[in-house]
Amino acid sequence: MHQDHRALGLAPLSTVARTSVSGAIDIAQGKPVQPVTLVRPHAAARAARFFVEKFPGRSMYAVKANPSPELIQILWDNGITHFDVASIAEVRLVARTLPDATLCFMHPVKAEEAIAEAYFTHGVRTFSLDSLDELEKIMRATRSAADLTLCVRLRVSSEHSKLSLASKFGVAPHEAKPLLFAARQAADALGICFHVGSQAMTPEAYADAMERVRAAIVDAAVTVDVIDVGGGFPSSYPDMAPPPLERYFETIHRAFESLPISYSAELWAEPGRALCAEYSSVVVRVEKRRGNELYINDGAYGALFDAAHIGWRFPVTLLREPQSTVRDHPFSFYGPTCDDLDHMAGPFLLPADVQAGDYVEIGMLGAYGSAMRTAFNGFGSDETVIVEDEPMVSLYTEVEREAASNVVKL
Ligand SMILES: Cc1ncc(COP(=O)(O)O)c(C=O)c1O
Repeated sequence: MHQDHRALGLAPLSTVARTSVSGAIDIAQGKPVQPVTLVRPHAAARAARFFVEKFPGRSMYAVKANPSPELIQILWDNGITHFDVASIAEVRLVARTLPDATLCFMHPVKAEEAIAEAYFTHGVRTFSLDSLDELEKIMRATRSAADLTLCVRLRVSSEHSKLSLASKFGVAPHEAKPLLFAARQAADALGICFHVGSQAMTPEAYADAMERVRAAIVDAAVTVDVIDVGGGFPSSYPDMAPPPLERYFETIHRAFESLPISYSAELWAEPGRALCAEYSSVVVRVEKRRGNELYINDGAYGALFDAAHIGWRFPVTLLREPQSTVRDHPFSFYGPTCDDLDHMAGPFLLPADVQAGDYVEIGMLGAYGSAMRTAFNGFGSDETVIVEDEPMVSLYTEVEREAASNVVKL
């Protein structure tokens, strides 16, 4: 694991502790000096099984959301056989961890060397693209291979999502015709893919995107073999309680069935967040209290990137026994580095008597939390422990921990 994270340019992480403890409170009682990442294999397994059983097509895990080899193995063990990889380091990581997995290189702008290595060394056959230049690059790098699945990325709206992915990639549907046509000539199988933006708060996001797909297919008059609806499936956070995932699946299924595509066309999705958000949380220590501000030992350059940079609130709970009976109060957090930007506005609701020396669990950090950690300023924890308790919030069960004080009701 140490090596794998290095390969991705991430802060080195230690090997996950093999001894399980029952829950976050046990960790706090050990009074750790560094933040501790808690991982919940059962939560990731449950999410994988949910997608495998209920999504009406193939679910491939978007590795960028959390590239932990342990997690990738758990997903595989629970039925996820395909992986969306976006860099050559991710290709190598998954190929090394799961030699039998199918990898799809879904970054629309790739280095030619990366394409060649993926194709010739790791057996990757599926690539995404959004320009004729990229198509030429793929054909050059694979020496005009005849066994490619080429997925043209369409630009769709991110209006229903919390994090936009509408600017950087994708060809506009009314400009897609020449690219779809050229990709059709070059590919063994032609796909259309899109991304509605991360944390899509309504299934309508996919219905709208599918209408753009329809327009592009009608305009180009090509036979399409794969429709890939990308990621964007939500998780539950404070102030963000999405509808049940089944509603997303039903909407996508209905739209897919009505598209003018080949009878044998396949439906794919690339969930990242939804498969791993519940997988981990972090236990931090309060080092100082200044009024309503808590100085904690993880932050913007650690697992709390989204809390700092896009102002997301994450569920928090004070790990104290006996539990505090004092009413909740809004706090903001400062992380451990010397940087003013290392600030998480929250508000995070914790008992008003929280003080230095207390431990706080910050939940739902499995997606884009651990994956973003750095060792900036000498901070960055390397301790990871497996726990058996439930995540603070789950889209997959009705379970909510009594102790969680500001958890979204599902
Ligand atoms: C091409 C692609 N697929 C899938 C994902 C995963 O998205 P999410 O985590 O919102 O499901 C991303 C995220 O950026 C992406 O860029």
